[in-house]
Amino acid sequence: MQDIETLKQQNMNLSDKIYIFDTTLRDGEQTPGVALTVDEKIQIATKLNNLGVDKIEVGFPASSQGEIESAKQIKALDLNSTLVGLARSLKRDIDAVLDADLGYVHTFVGTSPLHRDYKLKMSKTEIIDTAVSGIEYAKDHGLTVEFSAEDGTRTERDFLFEVFNQAVSAGADVLDVPDTVGILTPILTHELITDIKDNFKTPISVHFHNDFGLATANTLTAIECGANQAHVTVNGLGERTGNCSLEELVMSLKSAYGVDLGLDTTRLYSLSNLVGRLTGVKMPVSKPIVGDNAFAHESGIHVHGILNNASTYEPMSPEMVGHSRRIVLGKHTGANAIKSKLKEYHIDLNSEQFDKVFAEIKSLGDSGKCVTDDDLIAIAITEISSARETPIVIKGLSISMGANVSPTATVKLEIDGVEKETASTGVGPVDAALNAISDLIHDTIDIDLEEYNLEAITGGTDALAEVFVITSDDEGNKSTGRSTNQDIVMASILAVLDSMNKLLLIKRA
Ligand code: KIV
Ligand code: ZN
Repeated sequence: MQDIETLKQQNMNLSDKIYIFDTTLRDGEQTPGVALTVDEKIQIATKLNNLGVDKIEVGFPASSQGEIESAKQIKALDLNSTLVGLARSLKRDIDAVLDADLGYVHTFVGTSPLHRDYKLKMSKTEIIDTAVSGIEYAKDHGLTVEFSAEDGTRTERDFLFEVFNQAVSAGADVLDVPDTVGILTPILTHELITDIKDNFKTPISVHFHNDFGLATANTLTAIECGANQAHVTVNGLGERTGNCSLEELVMSLKSAYGVDLGLDTTRLYSLSNLVGRLTGVKMPVSKPIVGDNAFAHESGIHVHGILNNASTYEPMSPEMVGHSRRIVLGKHTGANAIKSKLKEYHIDLNSEQFDKVFAEIKSLGDSGKCVTDDDLIAIAITEISSARETPIVIKGLSISMGANVSPTATVKLEIDGVEKETASTGVGPVDAALNAISDLIHDTIDIDLEEYNLEAITGGTDALAEVFVITSDDEGNKSTGRSTNQDIVMASILAVLDSMNKLLLIKRA
């Protein structure tokens, strides 16, 4: 890893201190469908503080009494992070921030032609007057002021600079550049932020949206060009497709650039989970850093590498972000992964048994089945049970069907050496037979049929039918079963019995 000094020599213009301004509780709450209660805001603010973010935008106090209340209650926690309230450049909005007892206001006014002409219906002079009077009013009331030129990236450069110059003269402490509809690219960001940094001494912040999936890349670029602060949200929440994601930015800076912001990154995963739970916005499994698959490995080649040295296929360790590694079994699984899983479950197999288990896992994967750890345990235990006992054996089957009557199946089973017979009806012959089995084994094991798949593996009326089932018992054990037969009813019964026998062996083991 390179240190900041080395990076600076490589034409990067990193600021000595990069501030993280988290706006999960404000822009993040603007995610369509998300609304947080005071208590939920408190929980998130506390975790953000423990992570170590510099600033927390707690809300938009002028928008409701509840926002003022939640800001006050968060203030009462006496956190280390600086608390910020959003305000339009209006006296009444700034008053609401003062009512909320906050010492830092984030004022904004739209500066682009679109915002001037269609939203605000104001001239350039009026925009500047609004920005300036808001900043002056806030400064007169003792607030630290961060000023945002909303839609700044679609604002004429000379007008943006004019607004920023006037904002600085009015006393703005930080100038923020919002890419309100996420239209920047890294190259455009480089040009814009370099130009701004060349012309302004005031600390520069960026607030980048993710409409084209570039928010993190653009924010990193802005930081490379000397931006002093980044606006971020947990899980990248925010208006439309969200903002730059806190966890992606912090970990990119730490892992790729060696820039340690002093945050306790081991708290990132649990923070992401809390925000996912409270907002109801679940992360896709592939979400960088915090997604379920961020540290999951399936392919044999990868797992082999990971087991020898995790860095072979992980750019950072899961422990760094409080996540955990997962080895997943499937069609790409290699022998090493299975051996490591068996070891995890303290299951010893000789090489012949192992080869059989390996082949079975591969064939399940090949047929498109997801192979769970429970499947592996079931398959391995079945293999170990020396006599390969089959406690339940089918001894007889007859089906009767007729017009306007439900099909009836009469099934005879031998269960632990004792023959039992019963008849049952169902919506079809398979259902009738499975109902009869269920009645017969009821005293031996309580089983649910969780999945039933039937496939014709050859053509014609004498086609071979392959049935694959997953059953579970009352203790939560699961097992797969499969069978191939020319008769669909028999294939179904044998698959279910296959699965039940495995479950019984697991239970008895
Ligand atoms: O995206 C945006 O422009 C904003 C402003 C309020 C800064 O969220
Ligand atoms: Zn925004």
